[in-house]
Amino acid sequence: MYRANAHRYELMRYNRCGNSGLLLPAISLGLWQNFGNRNDFNSMREIIHFAFDHGITHFDLANNYGPPPGEAEINFGKVLKDDLWSYRDELIISTKAGYYMWPGPYGEWGSRKYLIASIDQSLKRLGVEYVDIFYSHRPDPDTPMEETMMALDHIVKSGKALYAGISSYSAEQTSNAITILRELGTPCLIHQPRYSMFDRWVENGLLNVLSDEEVGCVTFSPLAQGLLTDKYLNGIPGTSRAGRGLGNGAIQQDDISPSVLQKIKKLNELAGQRKQSLAQMAIAWLLKDNRVTSVLVGASSVAQLKNSIGSLQNVSFTNEELSAIEEILK
Ligand SMILES: NC(=O)c1ccc[n+]([C@@H]2O[C@H](COP(=O)([O-])OP(=O)(O)OC[C@H]3O[C@@H](n4cnc5c(N)ncnc54)[C@H](OP(=O)(O)O)[C@@H]3O)[C@@H](O)[C@H]2O)c1
Repeated sequence: MYRANAHRYELMRYNRCGNSGLLLPAISLGLWQNFGNRNDFNSMREIIHFAFDHGITHFDLANNYGPPPGEAEINFGKVLKDDLWSYRDELIISTKAGYYMWPGPYGEWGSRKYLIASIDQSLKRLGVEYVDIFYSHRPDPDTPMEETMMALDHIVKSGKALYAGISSYSAEQTSNAITILRELGTPCLIHQPRYSMFDRWVENGLLNVLSDEEVGCVTFSPLAQGLLTDKYLNGIPGTSRAGRGLGNGAIQQDDISPSVLQKIKKLNELAGQRKQSLAQMAIAWLLKDNRVTSVLVGASSVAQLKNSIGSLQNVSFTNEELSAIEEILK
């Protein structure tokens, strides 16, 4: 029988999520790519145990994570039921709806019809009565923002989620969503944008909106899906995300161009001088900004997650290091 490490809360830092009452671990675990039916169940279980044993209380899912879509929620639900059920009140489980999930006009985007049907499906797959955070996974250009936000508000008020969040909304869309949710009486808890050294769009307005509005920020793909590690320095391993040719938004072999590889090499050297792995430096670089509440990592093994958590040993940078990073990223 699984028993959580008694010292887990001494091993993690917790940051307040905006001006809410909720604290999130500095590092959270996402179940996008490595928790579907092509992965070994025992390995998934070990990763989840290791995370919780090291103070990672937040597990991020979405209706479509797998493959096939829905499978990651089912697998997480099994581990929850078998091993973590007595710890349910120590967990922050999030899920989302926005991307394609089922055929016909009601199986994706941001209508009230889709979001409410989807949360009901997610709750069944996860085997829970409520999730902690429910997100609109992406803005819908054709549905009025009011309708999507009213659906989030309904989901929270009906007890199916404790908090509402949005993902990948632009700075302007985020301001709008925050205002509407506030008027409805369900504050926007959090935004989940992509952010890494290789993808810095959030620096053009979004981070400031979140900090001005005191909304939390959990950043996804902090390692640019594995590019910001040493794994591609000597070729593309067949077992890696790029090597497996997964599709569905996963990085491809073509993403590892000679110029990207050159940057990775230089960043890797700099990380070595800081006595960190490149993955650790990439996570630390995000956490140095106090507008970032939590960094949402993926992991295909316990060893990777262990390495990523090690980033917390050193999250400060000298001005020289920051300038050197800027120079490499130019
Ligand atoms: N809201 C959204 O639209 C959205 C979109 C994407 C992701 N997300 C969320 O963000 C989470 C993280 O995204 P992500 O998986 O792309 O994040 P990531 O942390 O950038 O990439 C994870 C991948 O990097 C490699 N890796 C991780 N730690 C490593 C380490 N210490 N050393 C060497 N390699 C390491 C592994 O690649 P290999 O598999 O090659 O071993 C792993 O699968 C997802 O699970 C999901 O919850 C949200």
